[in-house]
Amino acid sequence: MAGKEVAVLWLLAVLGYGSGGKVLVWPADNSHWLNMESILQELVVRGHEVTVLLPSCFLILNATQSSPFQFEVIEVPITKKEIATLLQEAFYFWFHEERAQPLWKGVYKMAQMLSKMEKVTKIICDEAPNNKALMKRLKASNFDVLLADPLAPSGELIAEKLGIPFVYTIRFSMGNTVERLCGTLPAPPSYVPAIISRLTDRMSFLERLKNIFAYAAQDFVYHYFLWASWDQYYTDVLGRPTTLCETMGKAEIWLIRTYWDFEFPRPFLPNFEFVGGLHCQPAKPLPKEMEEFVQSSGKHGIVVFSLGSMVYNLSDEKSNIIARALSQIPQKVLWRYKGKKPETLGSNTRIYDWIPQNDLLGHPLTKAFITHGGTNGIYEAIYHGIPMVGIPMFADQHDNIAHMRAKGAAVALDFSTLTTQDLADALKTVLNNSTYKENALRLSKVHHDQPVTPLDRAVFWVEFVMRHKGAKHLRPAAHHLTWYQYHSLDVLAFLFTCTAIAVFILVKCCVFCCRKCGKGIVKRKKE
Ligand SMILES: *[C@@H]1O[C@H](CO)[C@@H](O)[C@H](O)[C@H]1NC(C)=O
Ligand SMILES: *[C@@H]1O[C@H](CO)[C@@H](O)[C@H](O)[C@H]1NC(C)=O
Ligand SMILES: *[C@@H]1O[C@H](CO)[C@@H](O)[C@H](O)[C@H]1NC(C)=O
Ligand SMILES: *[C@@H]1O[C@H](CO)[C@@H](O)[C@H](O)[C@H]1NC(C)=O
Repeated sequence: MAGKEVAVLWLLAVLGYGSGGKVLVWPADNSHWLNMESILQELVVRGHEVTVLLPSCFLILNATQSSPFQFEVIEVPITKKEIATLLQEAFYFWFHEERAQPLWKGVYKMAQMLSKMEKVTKIICDEAPNNKALMKRLKASNFDVLLADPLAPSGELIAEKLGIPFVYTIRFSMGNTVERLCGTLPAPPSYVPAIISRLTDRMSFLERLKNIFAYAAQDFVYHYFLWASWDQYYTDVLGRPTTLCETMGKAEIWLIRTYWDFEFPRPFLPNFEFVGGLHCQPAKPLPKEMEEFVQSSGKHGIVVFSLGSMVYNLSDEKSNIIARALSQIPQKVLWRYKGKKPETLGSNTRIYDWIPQNDLLGHPLTKAFITHGGTNGIYEAIYHGIPMVGIPMFADQHDNIAHMRAKGAAVALDFSTLTTQDLADALKTVLNNSTYKENALRLSKVHHDQPVTPLDRAVFWVEFVMRHKGAKHLRPAAHHLTWYQYHSLDVLAFLFTCTAIAVFILVKCCVFCCRKCGKGIVKRKKE
């Protein structure tokens, strides 16, 4: 009897171990959530329990909507409206004012906005790792792993306080600063372009110079402006002297949302996994009305156009410039846009509040994609092999389009000086010149030809961390070194000193000998 019970318990334990872990999630808002959601959904499918810590001001998601995840809502004294306004303000600045102002004013405003955002982030943090009741409840739930996006600080704080390993999912931080300085990811500035530098991996001397400056400037900004006040915050919360960067560096695995179809080849570490495009899926059927419109394009096919979820409205002037250019092509155009309908809108163009972008890009009649260059959209285009016209606006978008251009799958335009002719020409080039389509298809083939899909790899590593309580065997010892040890500057200094001393002694000896000999000769001469 007792033996049987033990056997049953043992069986349950084994089954329990194999089937379900407990995953805690500290998400970032907007498009960052979409990528993470794909991983979480797959984790649920594989029998894990997923709990999302959801600040009540989160825009993209509500705890009330039905969802495969459990939510632990964190009540914060900020409303969704305030966050939306802040984002709108930031966006408006990037969009309309960045270029129109003198540099110092622009930098000042940017700093103001960053400090405003930081205040908001701190308010959110105050309600999580600093909330004793919440932390006690989470501790009691025995989570196996925490999944976080380093864009929203304090995920790592929660993991540290709970004593559980954490995994990051990240597209990039400015200048790869977080990955390089906290994750010790190597990035030789001679061929790894800094983010927001708009450079590619083939750089001239001047471009390499610019690249080094871009890295240095971004490191400086991070160290002295963005991180400085967080270091104290982290020290206070954890009760021991630490820094934001040191805490972030404890991530077991970094899931980077790019891959070699998009990224230039570069060195990486064993605890970095490149899982770009994990959210992409085969196209599903379109809504009936939309399908009819698409079919009405006949042999010319369609063009899909979206400037992303952040662009609510353009100026009348810009929207008319764009609409006029769109009206000049024989293709039908589906434009995602929430602003006022432009007067010059052609009969071939339809405006939608929202479009099923992935399904449209996967439609056999789709010929081109006009995009602001967000990574999610670019990956959908790569997945389905669609050439692009890029109109980048801010953040990493210029870089993303620069990558696609370098790989021959996109034409880039400048939004601030955009004319009808520019857009019409770019569209004609991408539509008529088959090299763009061929290159896009080549990227697509590379993307699909992987031994394991990006989503499976991402989920594997999360499960791996759960099974092994971390991935310490992948952690480089670089984390224990100071910056001068990392670059072997102390060894170089030592060798230099040794050489200098040896040369000094040699010279002294020579001089001494010469003098001796010289004196000897003089003496002999005198004799
Ligand atoms: C969240 O719920 C509010 C009202 O409860 C609704 O207005 C809003 O659209 C919802 N947001 C999302 C993303 O579903
Ligand atoms: C965009 O819309 C907002 C209100 O929704 C309005 O205040 C603003 O002037 C508009 N911007 C442009 C450029 O049309
Ligand atoms: C592109 O092809 C279309 C017809 O397929 C033609 O009307 C148009 O002139 C071509 N444009 C260029 C720039 O070659
Ligand atoms: C097509 O585009 C490629 C790349 O920009 C260019 O080298 C080629 O000359 C173009 N072909 C035609 C027919 O314009």
